[in-house]
Amino acid sequence: MNLNIGVIKGDGIGPEIVTEAMKVLDKVAEVYGHTCKYTQLLMGGASIDVHGVPLTDETVAAAKACDAVLMGSIGGDAGTSPWYRLEPSKRPEAGLLKIRKELNLFANLRPAVLYDELKGACPLKEEITEGGFDMVIMRELTGGLYFGERSTGEINGVLTARDSLTYNENEIRRIAKRGFDIAAKRRKKVTSVDKANVLDTSRLWRNVVEEVAAGYPEVTLEHMLVDNCAMQLVKDPKQFDVILTENMFGDILSDEASMVTGSIGMLASASLNETKFGLYEPSGGSAPDIAGKGIANPIATILSMAMMLRYSFDLDKEADAVEAAVAKVLEKGCRTIDIMSEGKTQIGTEEMGNLIAESI
Ligand code: NAD
Ligand code: IPM
Ligand code: MN
Repeated sequence: MNLNIGVIKGDGIGPEIVTEAMKVLDKVAEVYGHTCKYTQLLMGGASIDVHGVPLTDETVAAAKACDAVLMGSIGGDAGTSPWYRLEPSKRPEAGLLKIRKELNLFANLRPAVLYDELKGACPLKEEITEGGFDMVIMRELTGGLYFGERSTGEINGVLTARDSLTYNENEIRRIAKRGFDIAAKRRKKVTSVDKANVLDTSRLWRNVVEEVAAGYPEVTLEHMLVDNCAMQLVKDPKQFDVILTENMFGDILSDEASMVTGSIGMLASASLNETKFGLYEPSGGSAPDIAGKGIANPIATILSMAMMLRYSFDLDKEADAVEAAVAKVLEKGCRTIDIMSEGKTQIGTEEMGNLIAESI
């Protein structure tokens, strides 16, 4: 099969972790007889440096022409990077939001799985992690607070900022269906997370989710308020199968879920639309504090690449092979610094990529 892949290496640790994911993908292609055509695309700070904007229309068109896009992460340190002296619409993050919106990537899947081998890196007590856990966060990605009208200005002489939160029933219905479709193939439980005790958008969310649930009698639906969910994630993460939630709540809860799997460096993600196209990226950021040191964990990016094989190319066997290779290297006791625990061997980004590629 010919895989036509756009690659956004991005900023900070982005180039380091994407290089390792491409190395593993090249090995998969070699072993399973595929060919990869890579198109390098600029986004975020790397695009600002060349084009003055975080994402050009040409790059959007080039991304659309690919079957899928593999991405590192974008952004810099807001305190020190010159990118953050630009107006908000020209900063690195605006590029990420633009590509999500332009490609209609409304469904963001973030699987949080505690590998047996990583229990030592999980900050929770053993009795909580016993038996492991395996959940998917289905985060709405193109609506809500991120895309509402915003403004800053004086109202009655007082400097005031405003971000607005809007959802319509269609946006909620399509993400809810995705959540239930996934749950139907898993442990058949959806936890819909909202703030229906306060927000109108959440009350609409709850009603529409109820309506969608009626079409999936085999799936159990429970509603949970977001503050309780944040607490339940550390109290008893095993209770979750699919967490279905809006954009901002999903952003926050997925970082929390990543830590109970050991590290943000383990959390993969797929951003999908109604077609086979997808944007695959680790859930974490560009980690400016460790960029260039060769110590970042590339596993989230490698597992995102596995999701790309599965969702955009239907190459399940190959995706399984990547996931098994990750598990095998962890079993051997090899760890990047973020998942390091007593008695294990600390290795760098490149060595982790090499070992996973060799295990394919
Ligand atoms: P971050 O996720 O970059 O870093 C948070 C902490 O996690 C840091 O200590 C970092 O070293 C660590 N970390 C993250 N990824 C890691 C990895 N693969 N291996 C080991 N450690 C890892 O979050 P932040 O510091 O809040 O944000 C930094 C920049 O990244 C900001 O500009 C932000 O906007 C951007 N960001 C981008 C994305 C994206 O491109 N999808 C996601 C989140 C944040
Ligand atoms: C993520 C990131 C982005 C988000 C930022 C960089 C805009 O945190 O992908 O989780 O909030 O969606
Ligand atoms: Mn985030």
